[in-house]
Amino acid sequence: MAKYIIRGGKKLEGKIEAESAKNAVLPLLAAACLTDEEVIIKNCPPILDVVSMVNILKELGVKVRYEGKNLIVDASSMHSYSIPYSLSKELRSSVFMLGALISRFKSAEASYPGGCDIGLRPIDLHLAGLKQMGVRVGEFGGEIVCKADKLTGGDIYFDFPSVGATENIMLAAVLAEGRTVIHNAAKEPEVEDLQQFINSMGGKVSGAGSSVITVDGVKRLHGTEYKPIFDRIEAGTYLVAAAATGGNIEISNCNPEKISALLHKLCENTCKITLNNDIIYLKSGSVRKSFNIETLPYPGFPTDMQAQMVALAAVSNGISVIRENIFETRFRHVRELNRMGANIVVKDRVAIVSGVKELSGAKVTAHDLRGGAALIVAGLNARGVTVIDDIRHVERGYYKPEEKFRMLGADFEKL
Ligand code: EPZ
Repeated sequence: MAKYIIRGGKKLEGKIEAESAKNAVLPLLAAACLTDEEVIIKNCPPILDVVSMVNILKELGVKVRYEGKNLIVDASSMHSYSIPYSLSKELRSSVFMLGALISRFKSAEASYPGGCDIGLRPIDLHLAGLKQMGVRVGEFGGEIVCKADKLTGGDIYFDFPSVGATENIMLAAVLAEGRTVIHNAAKEPEVEDLQQFINSMGGKVSGAGSSVITVDGVKRLHGTEYKPIFDRIEAGTYLVAAAATGGNIEISNCNPEKISALLHKLCENTCKITLNNDIIYLKSGSVRKSFNIETLPYPGFPTDMQAQMVALAAVSNGISVIRENIFETRFRHVRELNRMGANIVVKDRVAIVSGVKELSGAKVTAHDLRGGAALIVAGLNARGVTVIDDIRHVERGYYKPEEKFRMLGADFEKL
């Protein structure tokens, strides 16, 4: 199994470019199935989650090919609406394919996406919304079967601003009859990106980025060429790694306001952040100071940056209190960090981090995508060699991190 070998203690310095957002590209690929015309999604990193989603589309008869980093999608010969378990278990967030498949075929079949390392990941909000639009949902033996004579718009209320459920209903509503209004919708930038993408295909969606999204059904959608939003979590991960090594870096292809909660916290940690158009400059402070975090739906602090910030807090002066409010078991990185000399106690959904001067290299294991990213941050700070196992978790969401960190001066190898 592939591993990362990191010899820590070097300040990260230099410049990199942020990729397109994994969590935007995935729903855009689902939306691309709603037209028979060619769709070009530009600057798509071939990370494992994107590869998994492309495999699902190909299984359903969609032609997908890379031209450089651009993904060309042609769904004109799409012939199936049944996602095999072997593929949906690889990518639980493929559940928002349900909305797209019902829009196109008035039918959809998928396996109940299993939980993962960060929580149960229920889809009750997705299914409740689809039922309100006229979808009959059968669940048995771990399979979900959806059928609808027609999709009709209406008022949908979410108990929680779920990102995936918001995207699923948008995809089910875009070709439905009448108006769908989603209340308490997720406000994440990737939801806004899906709105822009659908509108560039001739859809009529408004309000994304606020808690009320309105979708007026249209008869058909046409092809488009689209560059997704930057990956705010990838960019955030590199900024945190720079802070944890006392370095200074710049990242281009960013939209800083979309990660303002993180940038604010990094300033609390005494980093100096300057912005210039799409470039974020980070200069580490002389001492790293502790901070407190509550993960919240956007625009609150993003849960996908929690693990990386726990690693930064581990080498910051003082006590940091980090509470994970979104997922129920998203602290599996803590045990690994403590193996590297961190001093972290977890009680329910709160991590209490007592900062130490520096960590020491060790053999550790990635248990999930962002937990693996946290181990990279820790390894870059640590004295000595850190070996990170099970790095496929990291490669689900980060494009060639070994290369990008080497460009910033890290002693970082992939075996
Ligand atoms: C998306 O997951 C992201 N994934 C996640 O990123 C991200 O952590 C999450 O949003 C929150 O920002 C993609 O976009 C592909 P949710 P999603 O539905 O849609 C509960 C990463 O690291 N919930 O907003 O699954 C759920 O259990 C990944 O890139 C229900 O109870 O997130 C969780 O506690 C990890 N019922 C909370 O809502 C439902 O029907 C947030 O889930 C749906 C969700």
